[in-house]
Amino acid sequence: MNVIEAINERRSTRAFLPDPVERDKLTAILEAAARAPSWANSQPWEVFVATGATLERIKAGYLEKYASKTPPATDMPMPPAWTQAAKDRRQGLSDGMARVCGEAAKRFGALNREMFNAPAVVFVCMDKVLSHWSLYDIGAYAQNLMLAAVENGLGAIPAITLVLYPDVLRREMRIPDNLKVTIGIAIGHIDKAHRINDFSSERVPFDEATHFFD
Ligand SMILES: Cc1cc2nc3c(=O)[nH]c(=O)nc-3n(C[C@H](O)[C@H](O)[C@H](O)COP(=O)(O)O)c2cc1C
Repeated sequence: MNVIEAINERRSTRAFLPDPVERDKLTAILEAAARAPSWANSQPWEVFVATGATLERIKAGYLEKYASKTPPATDMPMPPAWTQAAKDRRQGLSDGMARVCGEAAKRFGALNREMFNAPAVVFVCMDKVLSHWSLYDIGAYAQNLMLAAVENGLGAIPAITLVLYPDVLRREMRIPDNLKVTIGIAIGHIDKAHRINDFSSERVPFDEATHFFD
C-alpha cells in the first residue's frame, strides 16, 4: 500500500471487534506516529494507551458519568462557534450517515458512549504551558497514527467523546496534572458487519477550498 492509497482508504471506524490489537503492531503504529513533524522538533505529544482492564475501568467510569448526567469537562474548551459552512457540513454528515447506514445510524450516540467497543484507545496529551501551535504537531501525529493503522489492516477514529471526562483518565492512567488531554484515538479491528462502518464522508468540491494563483 502506498501513502495515497492509505490516505484514500482511511475513514473513521465507529464499531470495532473486541479482538485485542497485538502489542507489537500497536508499538509499530505509535513509532510511525512519532515520526510526525513538530515545531523545532519539540515533539509535544505525551501518549497514554489504554487497553485491557484499564480501558474497561475507563469505559465504566464514563458510563457512570453519563448515567449521573455529569457535564463534560474537557481539558480544552469546546468550540465557542462554528461558521455556517461548518454547520452545514455537520448536518451533511448526519444526513449522509442516516441515508447510508439506515437503523445503524441511530446507534451513533450509543457507539460514542461505548467508546466504539474499541480494544485500545490512545490518549494524546501535551504540556499545559505549550501554545496552540503544538496542537498542529499533535494533529500530524494523529494522522500518522491513523494512516499506520490502515497500513496494518486496522481502523481508527479520533473522537472528542473519548476525552469528555479527563478526571477518569487521570485516575486510571496517572496522567500528571501538568498535561492536558487533547484527543483520544480509538484503534482496533474493524467490525465490517456493522453498518455504521459503511459510511464514507464527503468533501467539499476541490475548487471551493483551494485557490491557485499563477
Ligand atoms: C478533533 C476531532 C474530533 C472528532 N470527534 C468525534 C466524535 O466525538 N465522535 C465521532 O463519531 N467522530 C468524531 N470525529 C470524526 C469526524 O466526524 C470525522 O473525521 C469526519 O466526519 C470525517 O470523516 P472521516 O474521518 O471518515 O474521513 C472527530 C474528528 C476529529 C478530527
